[in-house]
Amino acid sequence: MKKPRIAILGATGVVGREITKISEELNIEFESIKFLSSAKSAGSKISFKGNEYTVVEAKPEVFDDVDIVMASAGASTSKMFAPEIVKRGGVIIDNSSAFRMEKDVPLVIAGVNDDDLRSHKGIISNPNCSTSQLMLVLEPLKKFDIKRLIVSTYQAVSGAGLAAINELRDDTIANLETKPFENKCFKKPISFNVIPQIDVFCENGYTKEEMKVVNETRKILHFDESVKISCTAARVPVFNGHSEAVDIEFGVEVTPEDVRNILSNAYGVKVIDNPENYEYPTTRDASGVDPVFVGRIRKNLAFDNGISLWCVADNLRIGAALNTVRICKLVTDMGLYRDR
Ligand SMILES: NC(=O)c1ccc[n+]([C@@H]2O[C@H](COP(=O)([O-])OP(=O)(O)OC[C@H]3O[C@@H](n4cnc5c(N)ncnc54)[C@H](OP(=O)(O)O)[C@@H]3O)[C@@H](O)[C@H]2O)c1
Repeated sequence: MKKPRIAILGATGVVGREITKISEELNIEFESIKFLSSAKSAGSKISFKGNEYTVVEAKPEVFDDVDIVMASAGASTSKMFAPEIVKRGGVIIDNSSAFRMEKDVPLVIAGVNDDDLRSHKGIISNPNCSTSQLMLVLEPLKKFDIKRLIVSTYQAVSGAGLAAINELRDDTIANLETKPFENKCFKKPISFNVIPQIDVFCENGYTKEEMKVVNETRKILHFDESVKISCTAARVPVFNGHSEAVDIEFGVEVTPEDVRNILSNAYGVKVIDNPENYEYPTTRDASGVDPVFVGRIRKNLAFDNGISLWCVADNLRIGAALNTVRICKLVTDMGLYRDR
């Protein structure tokens, strides 16, 4: 098969820039590559592998000669372009929530459910960032018969895009200088605050973000309805790196040592767990690097067979860009794109 012709849609955004950086780091194979944005950033320059590229405005015809699109331009943009890409024989690996729960769309974390890619019909979805980091931790623990899962997230502002990063910075400065500040990205001021709302509220009282963790976890790990899952998601004044407190009930007896051993050898996971020496992962450890870090592994006191743990990862990498590029590599290696 010929090497794929690649496009990065949303290349000028927070996730798109990471996709570009990681594509270079992971040395993706390509015959040609283009960088796409809205009209706003078209004409700006991006350097990639020693060459300078001009960003092009995304229009249906730019996908005529593209085999794999890595997209991070928001749900409405993906909904607009995905049919155009598929119609032209391309594959879109989409970071938005537009297609994640559609039956015919594989929702994939590389290294967890790679085989699901084989059934794609042109659209592959990348899970929500808070779901993504959790999957690499739960997959190796599935063999202990997971019965119940309670997740509390502490999510960085980078998960809400460039404007949200700027809002945390500007609000913090305004607060320290006791100047007024009007918050736009978040419903409440984000500096020196914790906001128990990410995305809109659903009828059941959970937010959409929380229900993404519930539904996407079920789809990726192939859990049936008997596995009970609940999530509370909060936005915290951290620039980058999501943290999660996870309580897991198992069907069999599992010790913290069992979990520590398994996760120490798991793909994409790094255990830092010596609380007596104050060694546990924090967002600063996770920002800019690939592993999902796990620590504070202990017996959960509320369940008979339960474990609690703390899990931290770079939301822009594993939660979006790194997984997208890993999927692009899998699609290439497995030959799951157009044979020209
Ligand atoms: N941030 C995260 O941690 C994270 C994690 C998982 C998934 N995601 C998802 O990834 C997507 C992008 O997030 P982000 O944080 O990178 O946002 P962002 O920083 O606001 O970037 C958005 C990008 O999309 C482009 N774009 C917007 N409208 C477009 C259009 N009509 N046609 C072509 N390009 C268009 C923008 O181009 P211009 O520069 O021209 O405006 C920009 O390159 C969202 O769907 C988000 O939900 C984000």
